[in-house]
Amino acid sequence: MGDNGLILVTGAAGQLGAVGRTVTGLLLDRGLPVRAMVRREDDRAATLRAAGAEVVVGNLLEPADVYRALSGCRRVYFGMSVSTGYLEASVTMAAVAREVGVDALVNMSQMTVSQMSIHNTTPSPQQRQHWLSEQALAWSGLPVVTIRPTVFLEGFFLPLTGPSVRDRGRIELPFGQGKTSPVSTADVARVIAAILSDPPPHLGRVYELTGPRSQDIHGVAQEYSDALNREITYSDIVPEDWERDLKKAGLPEYLVKHLLTMAELNRAGRYDRMANGVERATGRPAMSVREFVSLHAGQFGGRRS
Ligand SMILES: NC(=O)c1ccc[n+]([C@@H]2O[C@H](COP(=O)([O-])OP(=O)(O)OC[C@H]3O[C@@H](n4cnc5c(N)ncnc54)[C@H](OP(=O)(O)O)[C@@H]3O)[C@@H](O)[C@H]2O)c1
Repeated sequence: MGDNGLILVTGAAGQLGAVGRTVTGLLLDRGLPVRAMVRREDDRAATLRAAGAEVVVGNLLEPADVYRALSGCRRVYFGMSVSTGYLEASVTMAAVAREVGVDALVNMSQMTVSQMSIHNTTPSPQQRQHWLSEQALAWSGLPVVTIRPTVFLEGFFLPLTGPSVRDRGRIELPFGQGKTSPVSTADVARVIAAILSDPPPHLGRVYELTGPRSQDIHGVAQEYSDALNREITYSDIVPEDWERDLKKAGLPEYLVKHLLTMAELNRAGRYDRMANGVERATGRPAMSVREFVSLHAGQFGGRRS
């Protein structure tokens, strides 16, 4: 199979700011051909097509769909929503990539995996699946690059603090006094696009990705205040109340369990992390919380003039 440079990006629909969708845009901006894999034909698929991607519809849990999506591509970004079938999808991708033959497989993982081992795991089903997925990909012998970001600004802080900041001027999370260093998916996607554009120097590497500062949520709230020009405070809420609200909002049990584990690890100081992967891979430092909130001020209730 010849190398026409075609790159497969999975999970490419996503919300605005989701990794696969942003990676697709960045690769197209660089003039690289992208096959964007989506789960269903909808407006998001049409937008990807209009942007210049070849769109393939398929289920990452179906080997024949993955084979159809990967055939003809030599590079792939693999990532999908936090969900029960994650390990199955990872191993399916590995099996198909071995059959088809690829030059680079960029695998989305999580930074907590850096702290995990046979004897030190976490109660999060997602983190456990990422740990196992990394093991399976290592055994596969494929040319893998591993991406381990800490918590996302777009995927966590925007949806889970935006409404309370807008309505009550408060970040309400059960994070105790633990520190965190959230990273923007815009930066995560820049790292992945840089790797996929020129994989050889990155093969076999693990990129741990954080934002530029590790601080407790009072410090995070101060950055929100600076960005919005109004006082934002931190309320350290009871985990059970948060759990009740997440369930009331209709989040799946699997995701709730993952989020509760994140909160528990935050309280234990396990999200107090710093890594320079964004700058190492892209030459540019990671975005701060203040910059992020400024960019998305409308979704946090706007900036006071
Ligand atoms: N959120 C965080 O704070 C954080 C931090 C570190 C790492 N991560 C990791 O980042 C990844 C999530 O990235 P993201 O937020 O960019 O993803 P996402 O937007 O939640 O999901 C990407 C896409 O995956 C698609 N998908 C789900 N199941 C599928 C299936 N069976 N077949 C085909 N497509 C499927 C979804 O399609 P539909 O939209 O059609 O459902 C979705 O558009 C996970 O691996 C997570 O562990 C997240």
